[in-house]
Amino acid sequence: MSFAFGIGIGTQNNQGEWLEVFYQQPLMIPDKTLLDVVRSALDFQGGNQAISANAEQLSQLASGLRQIGQTDQAALAEKAARSERPVVVTLLETDDAASSTPEVYLKLQLISHRLTKPHSLKLDGIFGLLPNLAWTNEGAIDLAELPERQLQARLEGRTLEVKSVDKFPQMTDYVVPQGVRIADTARVRLGAYVGEGTTVMHEGFINFNAGTEGTSMIEGRISAGVMVGKGSDLGGGCSTMGTLSGGGNITISVGENCLIGANAGIGIPLGDRCTVEAGLYLTSGTKVALLDDAGKLVEVIKARDLANKSDLLFRRNSENGAVECKTNKSAIELNHELHANN
Ligand SMILES: CC(C)(COP(=O)(O)OP(=O)(O)OC[C@H]1O[C@@H](n2cnc3c(N)ncnc32)[C@H](O)[C@@H]1OP(=O)(O)O)[C@@H](O)C(=O)NCCC(=O)NCCS
Repeated sequence: MSFAFGIGIGTQNNQGEWLEVFYQQPLMIPDKTLLDVVRSALDFQGGNQAISANAEQLSQLASGLRQIGQTDQAALAEKAARSERPVVVTLLETDDAASSTPEVYLKLQLISHRLTKPHSLKLDGIFGLLPNLAWTNEGAIDLAELPERQLQARLEGRTLEVKSVDKFPQMTDYVVPQGVRIADTARVRLGAYVGEGTTVMHEGFINFNAGTEGTSMIEGRISAGVMVGKGSDLGGGCSTMGTLSGGGNITISVGENCLIGANAGIGIPLGDRCTVEAGLYLTSGTKVALLDDAGKLVEVIKARDLANKSDLLFRRNSENGAVECKTNKSAIELNHELHANN
């Protein structure tokens, strides 16, 4: 049994190095018969490989795939055989750390196609394998080749629009998963997992290896590694703390039916039905006054002691400045009209 497979159409620079790869139909856990077909059509030797394939090999792959009943993949291989762009067939026997750009793109697309969840794949070392590129209206361009391409476009009466300069492209140029609304597509990176029923408004952002489980209104930032549970909302401009920089090592997550208020932030994982008041940034070391139902102080603890606990309301007392935690009596009711995005 293998781990992942994809027929990809990609972009290379003038040195023939891979810049990015589009896999229209990535597969998880392809069966052994598929592996055998790839072995004979492409001289696959086992292990994890990204094999550049020519038209003849792709035609052979297509007929082999058709014979074993993989009709969709066969049709894709047939189309790829006529591609004017370089084609790569990537087969991963195991989920080891990636060793090439096409492998990284396959892993990121497995997540964005919702074939696997964030945190389920080994993504160590991917930054070194993702070239920093100009993402333009004519596709990905190596930064060293950009000035020439810009000049060429102008000479031909066109303008090359550089939409971003980054290691990650926007997700929607690779896949738009079912049942989502994304107001500003540049704000969701490839490798994001956008659950069915999610709306990402203009201020919302979703990094790679992060996302939403299901219905959510996202107007704040979901940092790398952060997962947001079903029915939870992120208010305008709010922040979930990531672990990529700044030494943070607690993985932040948000449970179900939570509300993080506008301009608020969390540095601890939340359980279900929690609310964080607008504007309150709760770091893991924030001292929190725990109040009972009568509003009396029970004890002062650190926010991290409340990690993953449910039914909590956090607010900053506007009279004395103390951060307080009470039982959340009015866990948010989702506005169905707002979330009906299909
Ligand atoms: C924290 C929050 C949930 C509290 O809302 P609530 O439970 O409806 O509370 P209320 O505003 O009804 O206030 C209840 C009582 O607590 C008091 N109170 C509320 N916030 C307080 C604070 N920070 N400090 C002191 N008292 C406060 C109120 O004055 C009121 O007092 P009263 O009982 O004497 O009348 C709300 O203020 C909030 O921040 N919501 C987030 C909304 C948001 O950002 N949505 C996303 C939009 S993009």
